[in-house]
Amino acid sequence: MSSRLPSPFAVVRPGPHELRFYLGDALDILQRLDAGSLSAVVTSPPYNLGIRYRTFDDDAPRAEYLEWTGAWVAEVARALSPQGSLFLNVGGKPTDPWTAFDVAQAARPHLHLQNTLHWVKSIAIDRDLAGANAHLDDDLAVGHYKPINSPRFVNDCHEFIFHFTPRGDTPVDRLAVGVKYQDKSNVERWASAGKDRRCRGNTWFIPYDTIQSRDRERPHPATFPVRLPEQCLRLHGVDRLQLVMDPFLGLGNTALAAAALGVPFIGVEMDEAYLREAVDRVEAACAGRLPI
Ligand SMILES: C[S@@+](CC[C@H](N)C(=O)[O-])C[C@H]1O[C@@H](n2cnc3c(N)ncnc32)[C@H](O)[C@@H]1O
Repeated sequence: MSSRLPSPFAVVRPGPHELRFYLGDALDILQRLDAGSLSAVVTSPPYNLGIRYRTFDDDAPRAEYLEWTGAWVAEVARALSPQGSLFLNVGGKPTDPWTAFDVAQAARPHLHLQNTLHWVKSIAIDRDLAGANAHLDDDLAVGHYKPINSPRFVNDCHEFIFHFTPRGDTPVDRLAVGVKYQDKSNVERWASAGKDRRCRGNTWFIPYDTIQSRDRERPHPATFPVRLPEQCLRLHGVDRLQLVMDPFLGLGNTALAAAALGVPFIGVEMDEAYLREAVDRVEAACAGRLPI
């Protein structure tokens, strides 16, 4: 990793698969990592859309925000191994629709855009379009999103996950996040379908859990579900993960995914309350007290 790192705030599951947590600035910690030492980064930075975090001011001038984005992505690019992956989750809002594209452009000088994945939070499927094999009794509308009341915008039910890589040739384990064939005749027809698994494609339906109390169950304004980083890490290939990082840890969902997959992890968060919550969750998960 590096000898230039400060003392960690916490270390969970000490040993070869340990999870290390740092209270501090993402850019500072990234700069201290050895070149080529990270296998994969899965992260959701602040989007600069005026979200009310406890500590971070999410309202910088756009140019300043994009310059900072370029700076931390450049450090990720330096710290990634040649066949590493940066899974960069960014959303937007209808009144500011360019955010995700601007962030991707800020990353462009430093890494190749290898895949663009769409995190679908909610979807509606009409029964007649689903086909007989789906056995739907009715139309389906599932998942959660923040509803907006607008005469000009539809509800925003998706975010991007840009898969950036150092050279554009990082192998991916498509079948590790594959899906079963609906039509089983394909299993015989396609040699690659021998295990009844096909590539999931780039639309990933991952809903938020239904919660009763945000303060108690999800005390943070902008998290992703643990399934999202887990699928990213599986797509990268679990057996090629020497070290995973999330420089913008929040409540630690990437850490939970790394813990579940048994891979070493390093996370950074500037807000002590979020970091403490993240560490508590990972400790609980490792002790079998929190199902993931
Ligand atoms: C979008 S949230 C990440 C949420 C996380 N993916 C989860 O599921 O909980 C971004 C986080 O980055 C943190 N943050 C913002 N600027 C930071 C910086 N310079 N260094 C470290 N953390 C920072 C914020 O406090 C916030 O918790």
